[in-house]
Amino acid sequence: MQIDLNALRDDVIKISREVGKFIKHEQSRLGTQNIESKGKNDFVTYVDKAAETLLVSELGALLPDSGFITEENTVSQEDKEYIWIIDPIDGTTNFIHGLPLFSISIALMFKKEIVLGIVLEVTNDECFHSILGGPAYLNEKEIFVSKKKHLADSLIVTGFPYRDEGRLEAWMHLFIHLLQNTHGVRRLGSAAIDLAYVACGRFEAFYEYGLSPWDVAAGGFIVKQAGGTVSDFSGKDNWLFGKELLAGNGLMNAELMLTIEEKFKL
Ligand code: IPD
Ligand code: CA
Ligand code: CA
Repeated sequence: MQIDLNALRDDVIKISREVGKFIKHEQSRLGTQNIESKGKNDFVTYVDKAAETLLVSELGALLPDSGFITEENTVSQEDKEYIWIIDPIDGTTNFIHGLPLFSISIALMFKKEIVLGIVLEVTNDECFHSILGGPAYLNEKEIFVSKKKHLADSLIVTGFPYRDEGRLEAWMHLFIHLLQNTHGVRRLGSAAIDLAYVACGRFEAFYEYGLSPWDVAAGGFIVKQAGGTVSDFSGKDNWLFGKELLAGNGLMNAELMLTIEEKFKL
């Protein structure tokens, strides 16, 4: 790798904060006429599209021969050594309903390995970030996953299934089990923030199915850099493109994995 990841990270954080300001400003002006439906419970606004266009142009300028995997498909070049994986607004449903929890998620892959990840929680200006080989940070402070060992002491976060209902029943069984055996289960509405909060120890674990690479690339990477684990529901490494993800502090994985296996009959 020929690039200075530290310097690149600083530039990416700067760019994401600029785009974050734009997104925050537009939220107050948003009307129902600005909301388009891409499918069942899948929305997009001109702000998602404009934010993505800005990110693609500015990140492309930082690394001229890079490709992109982006939610709103402004560009798509997946055959490059460097590939940016971008969700311009993770948490669009929150965004259009005037809720404050949404994020910008940016990861960079080099030869199919993630080397940089940034999740900017826009409203509170909390920037979670890391580069390969380095620690994970929340703004300037180093972060670590939680040290709690038992599910009984944990707070878990998830995403409710709302498109692919095929596994809804299994998901409900798991949900009930976790409600009965943890401090509680939360649903924030932005997978990137869910993962970032696991990375800094606010949650012990996050699970969801039906996710896309732009939802999880940056956050999943940051969890790992903060000392946690990320896998699919079978404990394998296929979490980026595999459409299911379990992330946690690694200390209650066996217990969680067993429950998931049992409820999803893997
Ligand atoms: C969604 C959010 C949500 C998760 C969905 C994602 P979007 O992304 O991450 O938390 O449950 O699966 O699609 O559509 O707001 O970018
Ligand atoms: Ca998303
Ligand atoms: Ca999005």
